[in-house]
Amino acid sequence: MLLFAFFNGMAQSKRLKENFDSGWQFHKGDIALKRAVKAGKQGGLTDADVKVITGEEAIIAYTDKNKVAEYKPSDWRKVNLPHDWSVEDSFVHDNTLGSRPASNGYLPGGIGFYRKEFEIPEADNGKVISIEFDGIFRNSTIWVNGHLIGNHQSGYIPSNYNLTDVLRYGKEGKNVILVKVDATNYEGWWYEGAGIYRHVWLLKTDKLHVSRFGTFVTTPKISTDSALVRIKTTVQNEYKLAKTISVVSKILDNTGMVLNTLTMSQKINPYAQGEVVQNGAILSPLLWSPESPNLYKVLTEVVENGKVLDNYETTFGVRTIEVTTNGFFLNGQLYPVKGTANHQDFAGVGVAVPDKINEYKIKLLKEMGCNGYRAAHNPPTPELLDICDRLGMLVLDENRLLSSTGDGIKDLTTLILRDRNHPSVFMWCAENEEPLEGTTMGGRILEKLVGVTHKLDPTRPVTAAMNHGWDEGGYSDLLDVVGYNYGQRGMQYVKDHEKFPQRKMFVTESTSYVSTRGEYEDNKEKGFVSNLGKGISWGMSPGKDWEQIVQYPYLGGMFAWTGFDYRGEPTPYQWPCVTSHFGIMDLCGFPKDGYYAYKAAWTSAPVVHVFPHWNWKGKEGQKIKVQAYTNCQQVELFINGESVGKKEAVPFNKLEWEVEYRAGKLEARGYNRGKVVVRDIIETTTDPARIDLNSDCKVLKADGSDVAIINVAVKDAKGRVVPNASNLIKFHIQGVGRIIGTGNGNPSSHEPDKRSQRMAFNGYCQVLVQSDEAAGEIRLKATSELLRPAEIVLKVN
Ligand code: GAL
Repeated sequence: MLLFAFFNGMAQSKRLKENFDSGWQFHKGDIALKRAVKAGKQGGLTDADVKVITGEEAIIAYTDKNKVAEYKPSDWRKVNLPHDWSVEDSFVHDNTLGSRPASNGYLPGGIGFYRKEFEIPEADNGKVISIEFDGIFRNSTIWVNGHLIGNHQSGYIPSNYNLTDVLRYGKEGKNVILVKVDATNYEGWWYEGAGIYRHVWLLKTDKLHVSRFGTFVTTPKISTDSALVRIKTTVQNEYKLAKTISVVSKILDNTGMVLNTLTMSQKINPYAQGEVVQNGAILSPLLWSPESPNLYKVLTEVVENGKVLDNYETTFGVRTIEVTTNGFFLNGQLYPVKGTANHQDFAGVGVAVPDKINEYKIKLLKEMGCNGYRAAHNPPTPELLDICDRLGMLVLDENRLLSSTGDGIKDLTTLILRDRNHPSVFMWCAENEEPLEGTTMGGRILEKLVGVTHKLDPTRPVTAAMNHGWDEGGYSDLLDVVGYNYGQRGMQYVKDHEKFPQRKMFVTESTSYVSTRGEYEDNKEKGFVSNLGKGISWGMSPGKDWEQIVQYPYLGGMFAWTGFDYRGEPTPYQWPCVTSHFGIMDLCGFPKDGYYAYKAAWTSAPVVHVFPHWNWKGKEGQKIKVQAYTNCQQVELFINGESVGKKEAVPFNKLEWEVEYRAGKLEARGYNRGKVVVRDIIETTTDPARIDLNSDCKVLKADGSDVAIINVAVKDAKGRVVPNASNLIKFHIQGVGRIIGTGNGNPSSHEPDKRSQRMAFNGYCQVLVQSDEAAGEIRLKATSELLRPAEIVLKVN
């Protein structure tokens, strides 16, 4: 079990944040729990049933076709969180399934239950104990020891419950938590998963403690000499007496050195909150940016009579952000955002994405030159923001719905309070493509959302990712920054810039280029879209989107739809496709050809990338289209060493040749100022001969959650990846780890993600290996008929 504790002075631990992910049981399907607390006979249950439901015997009962059944452990299986049961299911090509089968990737949702038995030591009696669910998809109801604790609808906003009074301490007995998850309904038009798919934490504090998300650290004045650090701390008193406390805030740099200590006293009434505002300073501050993600920390102590009762940690950064009519400025410099929009799923795991995989995704995006991430169309898991703070990635943090109902405002409030300290978050997005955009009613709702956001966070602008209504009903005027999704259509954003010169703008969504990795012909039956093609009507070719930002810098930056393929929304064909085609990379993070358009546009190193592959058996002598992405001045194409034409490159546009196919070697040479600066070579391969394994790491942590992302390539005898290989690869694992999923990026693959085998798709597949909580070694062997096997050894420390 992971245990995070903050230590103070004599190493006495105060606040405890225990990871609560392991040791759960899962039951798929409904259990007709009629009443929660002391249902008695009126609830349709006998006294004995009530006894078991309340957890007195540490079991639950449930009714099955109106007959009360006993808790049968065999109906439940062990799971660790994060968990997505939908991705474990089989694909169903049935349009009566749920409400939106294609959108959801043809995977069912339904109802599931999670249950966990746990003990709380007597020593914790008197503390405040709460549980924090980072995200459950969706409509979750919680019981603890038979008490109905609460219900939470949103699949993307965290929920938190104070369990202090209903827990059993020490000899009182075991505790049982029961979570019903109803994923029958959807919230979006993409794959959303099902289950407790993010982390769960158990928090133990004194009755005097920093409130949930109770700090707000801002840097209202920044110069090269110093930064003013304003720390607002909300302290909660859950004692029945008023308390006079001191809040001690220590500002630390990234080496842990204390730069400043601030102390302030305050009286807090019983069962009430008090706010303390402190001002400190950092001399010669190191600014945060994607290139130099410098971080600072505030360590907060709540002290009563010299005794530290609680401690709390807040990470923050020093940086300025400003969206102007001339573009986006970071730390005073024009900083066009090179962004991608992304849903949260990944190959093999659905939406239950381990932190390590989120880190892998952010690293892949950064390697491409990307500096912005749009969490579409919902708040991300909090760990993703920690990763973006640490690695350096600007985030557009997005509210799920245009809703000012009680729940709508509550969800938005939780989002802002949770995320407002992250330096990576540079702007809030109130909504995406809501039908009410540009209407009077939509405006009333939006006005409230923007107002609440400003009140909770006056430091960041609010946008909305609009696809219509920009000039209607005054809707746009309510926003700090007007978001344009596909504003290139009719050059809407350029026209609006001329019409409303005071309007601040951002390309909240662009591109939507569809392609299937490694495919060069459209094939509706197989569900493949060619990388040589033009894409769909509302989209743009890779790179052309960026051309617009370069041309019209007042647009601030862009978010290409999408960095990675995602499950669901299988545009343009639907079945047999179960994933989207929009990714610059596929569902496993393997680059498609368009990836190099961004690498060319967003990085300074010379890039030339030529495609398609050069395995066109039977097409000898036939005309074939060849394209290249580059940031060089000219590109010359060679077939088997013979030049077939040199072309002037036009920035952000792909080059195209029509050549006669001759097996052998296709080479593209990129020239700058007349000199060859980069080459890309593709060779005709022979048949698949061997497997190659490449892990993103050699060592895993023995924490039960670390993951190695192992990319599998099928190569010929000379070690060249065979571009159309589809061999079935079988994985055999030994040691202190397990396979948590596989993938291959084929949008039409109906293979189960949770089996220890996968067909290669156009030369590649992937296996995800997770460590156990024990140190040792993991041996992963990959075998396939006719291929030389491969083995990889990982250390687990
Ligand atoms: C946008 C929408 C995205 C996705 C995309 C596909 O309009 O915001 O969620 O559907 O279109 O092109």
